[in-house]
Amino acid sequence: MAWQKVASLEALRAGEVLGVDVDGTAVALFRIDDEIHATDGICTHADAPLADGFVDGGTIECFLHQAVFDIRTGKVLSGPATESLRVYPVKVEGGNILIEFSDAQPASEAPAATAAVSAMTPPDAGARPVSNRAAHGEPESRDMATNGGPIISKQYIWPGNDLTVIPDWVYTDQHIYDREVEKIFHGRTWNYVALEAEVPNAGDFIRSNVGPTPVVVARAEDGSINVVENRCRHRAAEFCRELSGTVKEFVCPYHQWTYDLKGKLIGIPFRRGVAGKGGMPADFKPEDHGLRKLDVTTHRGVVFASYSSDMEPLADYLGPDVLREFEATFDGRKLTILGHYRHSLPGNWKLYHENLKDPYHATLLHTFLVTFGLIVAGARSLMLADASGRHGVMAAAKSDAKLVSSDAKKEMRAFKEGMTLREPRFMNFIEEFDSPWSVTMATIWPNLIVQREMNTLGIRQIVPTGPHEFIMKWTMFGFEGDDEEMTRHRLRQGNLMGPAGFLGLEDNEAIKFVQDGMQGVPDGEHLVKLDPATPYGTADNLISESAIRAMYKHWRQEMGV
Ligand code: FES
Ligand SMILES: [Fe+2]
Repeated sequence: MAWQKVASLEALRAGEVLGVDVDGTAVALFRIDDEIHATDGICTHADAPLADGFVDGGTIECFLHQAVFDIRTGKVLSGPATESLRVYPVKVEGGNILIEFSDAQPASEAPAATAAVSAMTPPDAGARPVSNRAAHGEPESRDMATNGGPIISKQYIWPGNDLTVIPDWVYTDQHIYDREVEKIFHGRTWNYVALEAEVPNAGDFIRSNVGPTPVVVARAEDGSINVVENRCRHRAAEFCRELSGTVKEFVCPYHQWTYDLKGKLIGIPFRRGVAGKGGMPADFKPEDHGLRKLDVTTHRGVVFASYSSDMEPLADYLGPDVLREFEATFDGRKLTILGHYRHSLPGNWKLYHENLKDPYHATLLHTFLVTFGLIVAGARSLMLADASGRHGVMAAAKSDAKLVSSDAKKEMRAFKEGMTLREPRFMNFIEEFDSPWSVTMATIWPNLIVQREMNTLGIRQIVPTGPHEFIMKWTMFGFEGDDEEMTRHRLRQGNLMGPAGFLGLEDNEAIKFVQDGMQGVPDGEHLVKLDPATPYGTADNLISESAIRAMYKHWRQEMGV
C-alpha cells in the first residue's frame, strides 16, 4: 500500500478525464461534482485509453466501442464491456492528487474511492491554468511528468461560454468524426436516402448511404420501400454492386447467399453440405440472418431512413416552419428524375450545412448571384432555423439588379456592372410554387439539401467519408406534367449549381479553402459572431451567422461536447 502522487490538482478540470501513467499502469482521473475519482486507464473491453473517451455526468464512455462505466464505482453500465474498471482510493494533498496504488479493487468490493476537492483545494486553485492549445479550443495534449513518463491525453473543450467561436477539432478530429457517425448519422435522425420516383416499380433498387454506411433502397412486391445495409450477413461483402437497377432478389456475388427485396435471407448454396458432409450447422436459422433493416418513412415522394426505431414522424422532426418550405417545393405533383451527378469535396461535411446557413458570403463571393439579382444585400430574404437549430432554410426573393443602391453595390465586391448573359432565358423565373421566395435552400439535418433555385430543383445528399472529405450526390428533378420546354429550362438553369455550377463552383472552392486553412495551420479556432442580437436561431437579415450557431447548439447537445 503506497500513496503516489499522480498529477497536480490544477491539471484536472471539472467534468473531464485525465490519463496518467503510474509505474507503467494507465490510470484515468476524473473530477465530477467537486470529487476526484481514479479508475483503470484502459477500457476492459479493448485496448483503448479512457482518456480519449467522453465524460457525461458520472459516466465515462470509451471512444472505441462505446462501453460506458460508472466513474465512481467502475461498474459497466452499457456497451460491450463485461468487466468492471478497478477504482483507486484518492486523496488530495498540497495541490496534488495521490492514489493508493496497490489497493485498487474491482468495483464490487470498492468503497467510495474519492477525494473532495473543496476541502483540499490549494489556495491558488481558483486561477485555473489553461494551456495555449486549450485556450485555442484544441483537443489538449498534456505531457504529465509522472513516474512513468509522458502521457498523451486528449480533451475536447469548447472555447468560451457561447457559440461564437468554433474550434478546428470539430472539423478535423477523427474521434469526433467517428462519434458523429454513431451519435448523428446512426443516431436519432431521419436520413435522406432516395426519391420514390427512383424506385417506382417492384424490384427497383438504388444504392444510397446513411452517413458513410452503404445501404440499398428497394421497392418490394407489396409496394413498400425497404432500406437495408449493403452488407452480406455471411462474410460482410457489399453485395449490391450496381448503382441502380431492377431485380427479383439480391444475390451476393461471393457465395450466392440470396435475399428477397425486404432483406430476408432466402437462399444459402450447399446449406446441407454435399453427400452428408459440410454445410451450415443444423440449428442455423436463416430467419435470424436477414440483412440489417432501417426504419423508413416517406413524405411527398422523398424517402428517409433511420437506425433509430422510435423516431418521431417526419413532420415533427422537421418542425412546422421547415415543413412548410419542404411542402412548398414538394407540392404534391409527382416527381420525375432528370439526372444524377456526384463529386467529392475536400472538406468536412458540416461546412456544407454552414455554407447554406451563411447568407453573409452570398453577396460577397458570388458574382453571378448579385449581378443577376438572385440574392442582393437589402432584398427580401430570410435565414430560418427550426426550434432545434439543426435544420435551416435560406430564402430570398429575386430582385432587379438595376434597383440595387450604389452603396450596396460598393459593399458587394462580387457585383459586376454591365455583365450580361448571352442566353437571357437562363434567368427566366416561371412562377409555379406557393411561396414568397424565388430561391430556397433547405438544409435538413443531417444529410439533405433541397435546392429550389427559381425553376431548377435538386436534392443534394451528403455522404461523409471522414473528417476531411465528403461526397455530394445530386439528383435533379422536375414534375410530371412539365412540357419539353419546362424540362429544358430546368436543365439549363441547373448549370447554376453542381461541381462546376456558376454558383456552386465558388462554394465548393470556399469549403476547400476553409479545410485547407484548418489543416495547414492547426490548433486554431474561428469566428461566427455576426448578428449578436440573435444568439442563435432565425435571422431576419443576410449579415448574420445565427443559424450556424443554432446548428452548433444542437450538435453539441447530440455529441456531448
Ligand atoms: S459473403 Fe455474401 S455469400 Fe458469402
Ligand atoms: Fe454560396
